[in-house]
Amino acid sequence: MLTNSIAVLSVTALMAQSAMAVNAYDKISFANVGFAGTFQSVKKMSNIYDNSTCKCEVEDRQWFSGTNAPLADYLSVHFRGPLTLSKFAFYTSPQFVINDSSSSDWTRGAYYDASSQTSSNVTFLTKAGKNSPCLGNALSYASTNGTGSASAATLLESDNLISSDQEYSIFSNVSCPKSGTGKGCGVYRDDIPAYYGFGGTTKMFLFEFEMPVETQKNSSSFEYYDMPAIWLLNDHIPRTSQYPNNANCSCWASGCGEFDIFEVMNGTERNHLYSTFHTFQGIEDLGTGIQSYGYIPRDTSSTMRGGVIFDSNGNTVTFVSNSTTFDDSLTVSSINSLFI
Ligand SMILES: *[C@@H]1O[C@H](CO)[C@@H](O)[C@H](O)[C@H]1NC(C)=O
Ligand SMILES: *[C@@H]1O[C@H](CO)[C@@H](O)[C@H](O)[C@H]1NC(C)=O
Ligand SMILES: *[C@@H]1O[C@H](CO)[C@@H](O)[C@H](O)[C@H]1NC(C)=O
Ligand SMILES: *[C@@H]1O[C@H](CO)[C@@H](O)[C@H](O)[C@H]1NC(C)=O
Ligand SMILES: *[C@@H]1O[C@H](CO)[C@@H](O)[C@H](O)[C@H]1NC(C)=O
Ligand SMILES: *[C@@H]1O[C@H](CO)[C@@H](O)[C@H](O)[C@H]1NC(C)=O
Ligand SMILES: *[C@@H]1O[C@H](CO)[C@@H](O)[C@H](O)[C@H]1NC(C)=O
Ligand SMILES: *[C@@H]1O[C@H](CO)[C@@H](O)[C@H](O)[C@H]1NC(C)=O
Ligand SMILES: *[C@@H]1O[C@H](CO)[C@@H](O)[C@H](O)[C@H]1NC(C)=O
Repeated sequence: MLTNSIAVLSVTALMAQSAMAVNAYDKISFANVGFAGTFQSVKKMSNIYDNSTCKCEVEDRQWFSGTNAPLADYLSVHFRGPLTLSKFAFYTSPQFVINDSSSSDWTRGAYYDASSQTSSNVTFLTKAGKNSPCLGNALSYASTNGTGSASAATLLESDNLISSDQEYSIFSNVSCPKSGTGKGCGVYRDDIPAYYGFGGTTKMFLFEFEMPVETQKNSSSFEYYDMPAIWLLNDHIPRTSQYPNNANCSCWASGCGEFDIFEVMNGTERNHLYSTFHTFQGIEDLGTGIQSYGYIPRDTSSTMRGGVIFDSNGNTVTFVSNSTTFDDSLTVSSINSLFI
């Protein structure tokens, strides 16, 4: 049961957050999530291996609207170390509103269990593909340790600790149609394994994981020393470029969507996990986004369970609870009991 919780903010009406103390919670809620807006997809990537002429062009603005938009789109799931993943699950429900007992149950649509090495509907990808001067490294299938490259889809091994700065991602096992404007996965790099992320307006992602303290020494070679994170991206972003050197090489900068579920923001607050929306809802500074002013404590010595729910009413709730289970169906009451 989550006893220490907070409704952090309403994303359409940014409140006077600075007046409130930064505190620890086991649940963080956002309300009114979803708006009508636009973003620009990548139309063309040219000369991607040429240092001086590598460039990208964007399409005209495309509109989105509705509950949870633009995060109602397909999302890929991203992990940064120090982190060990023992379970992952993705659920959908036809209609679920937090605290409303007339909601519908959740059905598991994807699953990964490290200890039994079983999975369904997941593909582990990582940035171990070919490097492009304007796009960065291409996605590849991840090898068993999450960061090496593999020639075919490979399950993450059971003892799968990744260190600071190391990353991998999870997509569904549904292959993308051909790359192209207006196609299901948009325009994407032709040298990647291309899969859909996880779609739907009403969706839930659950995780069982550890975020142990980094054992290597800090140095300037780390970008994110001891700053683990689990986050969601509009799946178009990693299929073109997660870390481009030109904003037109991904739809991120025009606001196609990122949500950080559990993220350490800096070395000073290395044991605080914040949640952040990086969309243009209610804010003009996309990089800062709308961040919770409360945080969920990072337990560095034991396993954490929790995740995020995007409900049918525009509530987004991130939570950590030892009562989290990963069954193939989760009842309304079992989920609502996490929020009493
Ligand atoms: C995708 O996962 C589902 C669920 O486990 C499975 O039934 C299906 O065969 C998989 N498809 C591919 C192409 O691997
Ligand atoms: C781009 O070209 C310059 C000059 O030839 C070289 O120093 C640099 O390493 C190149 N960068 C990449 C990413 O290839
Ligand atoms: C991960 O596996 C790859 C081979 O797929 C290997 O080259 C790499 O060194 C491994 N990384 C670590 C941190 O062990
Ligand atoms: C796998 O995930 C995709 C993306 O959300 C979904 O469309 C598909 O129905 C899922 N497959 C199964 C077997 O649940
Ligand atoms: C991105 O594309 C727009 C319009 O297509 C262009 O005006 C702008 O200069 C480009 N930005 C960069 C950084 O290349
Ligand atoms: C660390 O991140 C938190 C949350 O974003 C922020 O409140 C705090 O000011 C940051 N501290 C430093 C030293 O940047
Ligand atoms: C690691 O070092 C960087 C500077 O290189 C510093 O900004 C950061 O706060 C340090 N992290 C920790 C956890 O000490
Ligand atoms: C969850 O269980 C672990 C033991 O597995 C315990 O150390 C931790 O304190 C529990 N967390 C909460 C929030 O109750
Ligand atoms: C759910 O109900 C609990 C207990 O009444 C309340 O504290 C919480 O804010 C509600 N959550 C939402 C998202 O409405």
